[in-house]
Amino acid sequence: MTPIVDAADAGTEALRTHVAELLRRARDRSVALTDAVDDDDLVRQHSKLMSPLVWDLAHIGNQEELWLVRDVGEREPVRSDIDELYDAFQHPRADRPALPLLNPAEARAYVGQVRDKVFDILERSPLEGRRLVHDGFAFGMIVQHEQQHDETMLATHQLRRGAPVLHAPQPPPGRPLPAPEVLVPAGSFAMGTSIDPWALDNERPSHEVHVDAFFIDTAPVTNTAYAEFMAAGGYDDERWWSTEGWAYRVKADLTAPRFWVRDGDRWLRDRFGVVEPIPPDEPVVHVCFYEAQAYAAWAGKRLPTEPEWEKAARFDPATGRSRRFPWGDEDPGPEHANFGQRHLSPAPVGAYPAGASPSGVHQLIGDVWEWLDSDFHGYPGFQAFPYREYSEVFFGSDYKMLRGGSFGTDSAASRATFRNWDYPIRRQIFAGFRCARDASPPELG
Ligand code: AVJ
Ligand code: FE
Repeated sequence: MTPIVDAADAGTEALRTHVAELLRRARDRSVALTDAVDDDDLVRQHSKLMSPLVWDLAHIGNQEELWLVRDVGEREPVRSDIDELYDAFQHPRADRPALPLLNPAEARAYVGQVRDKVFDILERSPLEGRRLVHDGFAFGMIVQHEQQHDETMLATHQLRRGAPVLHAPQPPPGRPLPAPEVLVPAGSFAMGTSIDPWALDNERPSHEVHVDAFFIDTAPVTNTAYAEFMAAGGYDDERWWSTEGWAYRVKADLTAPRFWVRDGDRWLRDRFGVVEPIPPDEPVVHVCFYEAQAYAAWAGKRLPTEPEWEKAARFDPATGRSRRFPWGDEDPGPEHANFGQRHLSPAPVGAYPAGASPSGVHQLIGDVWEWLDSDFHGYPGFQAFPYREYSEVFFGSDYKMLRGGSFGTDSAASRATFRNWDYPIRRQIFAGFRCARDASPPELG
């Protein structure tokens, strides 16, 4: 007998299956990142910049409980007594190891209990109507939240000392690019989105933005190019640095990207516990905004602005439309980009020709987050949803924008509209950059 299912129900079932798959993928990753080390390592603080891994794990479960168990599911709390411990605004990262946190066994049991309830709630919830659940938004938000913390945990692993515990195959080889930079002609494009169902509040709404003509590099700046800046005395030449950048360069005694280590007259790098030669054609990673800015000035260029980056990434001049990803609207596959922790480093320049944008710009998604010369603001018509503390409380000039995602960013938390931000001094994140420059006005006559 053939069951009679109407199209809308079939769609909802497909969405439920999709959500369940993404929840499982995120959890498999959280488990792998936390099972890779022993209990001492889970509760230890590997850097003042980071939480103990066991805090991230229980915080993932607590956010899931708050939004999916209590709000969407309208169920009784699993553990209301621990909300305060896992509220990121109550305790700065540096103070978290001293809190009476759940121990590793308790944290694992807690996230498992929450997840069991969530699968039950997923089966029963209508995924339409109320805005929070429409198209599965709250579930998508929680998937993205877990994946973002997984990338944070990956950065904690990079800071951790000791024998390597993470392993992955090498990224694909690089290939020559058709040109070092491309011209993006002047004109307006649709920035942000009003239709992507799981886009977060700061990506909304779609709005037209005029962008003057500019040149943008087809690839992120490589280790070789960055080493030339270093060899040319870039770190000692105040001319290339902003006032704040130079002050930080002096105070922190910056001389090279974080995790680069001197070996006689050459540099090596420490990558997840393996000390190795620096791959020449890989995008440089673990530089702060100020270093990126100084390199660009030395190269006679500048960092792109956020509208420039997004236009280069999504605007299709042939149709006048903005795409969801550089290659089109379809979700990323392994041929498009280096993301999702399939590899434990950026891929060399030119490794993803299938991921290029209509403007001819490569490796915008994955590899390294790209520092941009823009502060974090809401788009015109911004509305905080579903909570002010995701985006709105960070608006202002304290943070610089990052776009595109890294090798450690999952595809669920990566798209051409996705916005990330951090302090301009941060170097433990998987961030690099590419350069841009103004296009001279066209010759008259
Ligand atoms: C968007 C990456 C800056 O990690 O602070 C995690 C993401 N928000 N939990 C962060 C986030 C709440 C956020 N970033
Ligand atoms: Fe969080």
